[in-house]
Amino acid sequence: MSVLSEDHGLKIRPISKFIGAEVTGVDLTQPVDDATRRALRKAVVDNVALVIRNQKFTPAQFATAAEIFGELMPDQIKTNLIRDLPMVSILSNFEKDSNGNQAKTPKNAIWHTDHTNKERPPNYTFLYAVEIPEHGGGTSVVNMNAAYEALPSDKRAALDTMKTANVRVSSALLATANPDTLAEQKRLTATPMMHPLIRTHPESGKKAIWFHLSKTESVTGMNAHETQDFLNELLQETIKPEFEYTHNWTLGDMLIVDNRSAMHKAGVDYDMSQHRMLYRTMVMGDRPY
Ligand code: SIN
Repeated sequence: MSVLSEDHGLKIRPISKFIGAEVTGVDLTQPVDDATRRALRKAVVDNVALVIRNQKFTPAQFATAAEIFGELMPDQIKTNLIRDLPMVSILSNFEKDSNGNQAKTPKNAIWHTDHTNKERPPNYTFLYAVEIPEHGGGTSVVNMNAAYEALPSDKRAALDTMKTANVRVSSALLATANPDTLAEQKRLTATPMMHPLIRTHPESGKKAIWFHLSKTESVTGMNAHETQDFLNELLQETIKPEFEYTHNWTLGDMLIVDNRSAMHKAGVDYDMSQHRMLYRTMVMGDRPY
């Protein structure tokens, strides 16, 4: 965990032992110097999730702020991109699919890490609250390195050798997928993207349990349905409340998740007649190992 740092007014305060730090004293609509850039990059790796308070972004400024952490990566979901700004998408509970239906439960309400069906999934996901419900609707993030390390060594050794085959949506979940996701599944390559179930963080060297439940077609030796059962049980067994942080949004917050050591999910504990809208962008990563 990082300690309090106070360079140039920047304050970084760890939130809990295992996850999260709050950042104040920086305005990311303005250029940042190298010391600030280094402190922010280190803080997100050390703390897994970073909350940067009191920002006032247009979508373009939000994208520029994310670029402090690397090169932006396009979202594979093209239906909710901001016009003329292809790297920023809108996450809204009012979004309708191409049949005009609104999802009862948003598809990102399960533990996941982003774009695992890509060869180079994003290092970081950035969220910024534009409209929030009166109560609830937080974003939860869990430290999957802590979850991995808490397992007995024989279980860790067994998981270490497993690979995941990643697709747009698992064949076990096709019946519940929305029509746009199904269309994308058909359009995308038929060859699943292979990744390790346990990935090593390229900067910290630490290992983490790493997968996207609905994008995992199979884990080594299992069919699609066995895979869903196995991964659901793994989540139940490994995620402990002390490894989790739920960010209850205040307008002006930017949340950054280090996808190499975390999984995240949207909260659904709010009145769905109220609008919840976030901007989202991602920074390109490397091939997991
Ligand atoms: C996401 O899954 O990228 C966003 C989570 C949220 O909407 O809180």
